[in-house]
Amino acid sequence: MIQVNNLKFRYTSEGPETIKGITFTIEKGQIFGLLGPSGSGKSTTQKILYKLLSGYEGSAKIKNKEVSDWGKELYEQIGVGFELPNHYLKLSALENLKFFQSFYGKNHDPMKLLKMVGLEMDADKKVSEFSKGMKMRLNFVRAFAHDPEVLFLDEPTSGLDPTNSRIIKDIILNLKKEGKTILITTHHMEDAEELCDQVAFLSTGEIKTLDSPQNLKLEYGKNTVEVLTQSNLEPITFDLKTLKDNDKFLDLIQTEEIKTIHSKEANLNDIFIEVTGQKLK
Ligand SMILES: Nc1ncnc2c1ncn2[C@@H]1O[C@H](COP(=O)(O)OP(=O)(O)O)[C@@H](O)[C@H]1O
Ligand SMILES: [Mg+2]
Repeated sequence: MIQVNNLKFRYTSEGPETIKGITFTIEKGQIFGLLGPSGSGKSTTQKILYKLLSGYEGSAKIKNKEVSDWGKELYEQIGVGFELPNHYLKLSALENLKFFQSFYGKNHDPMKLLKMVGLEMDADKKVSEFSKGMKMRLNFVRAFAHDPEVLFLDEPTSGLDPTNSRIIKDIILNLKKEGKTILITTHHMEDAEELCDQVAFLSTGEIKTLDSPQNLKLEYGKNTVEVLTQSNLEPITFDLKTLKDNDKFLDLIQTEEIKTIHSKEANLNDIFIEVTGQKLK
């Protein structure tokens, strides 16, 4: 559905290369995550794909057509959830959605959309009276109000409380079930792990690694066991895989009083640091 090949981009002709030749493919029905710290080029990559930025090098195709060759009809195919909500503040939530939908031929019932994110009671309230979280939820449903095949979501759960974040993630998983193709950017590793079929680690405009969260954990992650005993102040860490042959571990559990024992699974956060040498936040 989306093919990006050696994509490069500069904001100004003399300026630095912000995107330095990235390559990835997203199959129909997949959720693909671009992960990276602030400033790594996640939003820039999305903006190139939805034609907010022009003048890229290399290739970026949506539905087998080069992005630069698509005209306005591209916007029937794609939906965009911008990082920062932009609504008409003097209009109500429902009016905002209806106005947006007036540009499209095919649309979801706007009240149903508001209900999905718990805003049905606020449908007639002016958006200027909305909290940040309410604006974000409205922004999110607007992205797929016209039932597009491809969705670009820029940090959809950023700044949301756990309840609202859960609601948004469940909707994203439902959209996947409907066969939508979704490119999501995030610096929340737990969200990426839960949602994404594939993740690309982006660092200063380059993809450092690309794989499924499961494979990344197998390849890079080390599962460990932490044992805290009566006589040690700090827990001692052992490799989970070789535990049964680890004399030090066996000796420890036979001779010392154990205070706590925990197995620890590698997470994408640790792996990101290992691969890029950079922290996510
Ligand atoms: N309009 C712009 N003009 C010049 N540089 C920009 C512009 N927007 C973003 N940048 C720069 O491009 C880099 C990538 O930014 P961005 O794609 O927004 O990163 P991310 O979304 O991963 O936080 C940053 O160094 C940022 O300062
Ligand atoms: Mg961004």
